[in-house]
Amino acid sequence: MIRRSVLLGTGSALPSRAVSNAELAETVDTSDEWIVERTGIRNRHIAAEGETTATLATQAARAALDAAGLGPQAIDLIILATATPDQTFPASATIVQAALGIDDCVAFDVAAVCSGFLYAMTVADSMIRSGAADRALVIGSETFSRILDWEDRTTCVLFGDGAGAVVLGAEESEAGARGILAAKLHADGRHNGLLYVDGGPSTTGTVGKLRMKGQEVFRHAVTNLASVLNEVMGVAGLDPQDIDWLIPHQANARILDATARKLKLSPDKVVVTVDRHANTSAASVPLALDVAMRDGRIQPGQVLVLEAMGGGFTWGACVLRT
Ligand code: UT7
Repeated sequence: MIRRSVLLGTGSALPSRAVSNAELAETVDTSDEWIVERTGIRNRHIAAEGETTATLATQAARAALDAAGLGPQAIDLIILATATPDQTFPASATIVQAALGIDDCVAFDVAAVCSGFLYAMTVADSMIRSGAADRALVIGSETFSRILDWEDRTTCVLFGDGAGAVVLGAEESEAGARGILAAKLHADGRHNGLLYVDGGPSTTGTVGKLRMKGQEVFRHAVTNLASVLNEVMGVAGLDPQDIDWLIPHQANARILDATARKLKLSPDKVVVTVDRHANTSAASVPLALDVAMRDGRIQPGQVLVLEAMGGGFTWGACVLRT
């Protein structure tokens, strides 16, 4: 018997305000046509005053707990992936803990930008398998609208706000049964200058704004994602053809197409939400996962592959059986 982390429930949350490309084009020198053709994005959600990374994360966590049929006190670990925390410290995970009314648990944030949810899942899985935790809330939540330069059309049209969450639980099972089968993470800090925020507490003392050299990020994303996907499938002892659903980070529809082509995977097996949510950084993978769980595409016993790449660069992938 092997101790594994199994997926017990998923949830998500989006700010109520949806902003179309046409609405953006009223204030930024862009067009619906350009955004759709270059990115596949049609819509994004933008947080209102009072809606924060922690409030969205709490909403998503509540939905995931409901789906798992568990109360908050069942949770002994919260890992929140975010690059847009409510405060520089303490960790937004502790704000979520207090909002959920959990008396005592381990709670911390993980900063790996768009790969943050993969990093958080991998850490939670390690802690569950080692016996350090039994039931974990793993959350990706972001309010990137607050770190965008709304005068820079090359970045401000690409991102949105939102949150996604999963409940993972320990289960003793036979090899090949449900649960996380493999996870692989990578980082290459030499590429800081291609995707970063130009501020921080220890440098400028300001929050800063997002800066990106899009074309270069695009090129690295396609190469790194195909490579880590092949690597993680190898660790799991599976072939790309065994994938039932690929749940990728939602940065650009063209990156999703190129990755599927490299893996010789049918586009029908790729969960796409970038059209509706744009790039929500660490929230994008759990948001897409929750959409496909709730619309019934994902069924018990299926093989899911989650992947992401982002600032750092950081990238990673995770294979699990539902
Ligand atoms: O989540 C982390 C990972 N992030 C990513 O994976 C993002 C990866 N990169 C991308 O998705 C794409 O590179 C972008 C969507 C950011 C840009 O697409 P592109 O096809 O690489 O366009 P480009 O940067 O080469 O720009 C083409 C043209 C430029 O005009 P000129 O120089 O050809 O006259 C830009 O100024 O499009 C112009 N442009 C725009 N035009 C209208 C750039 N942004 C806009 C805009 N509206 N919003």
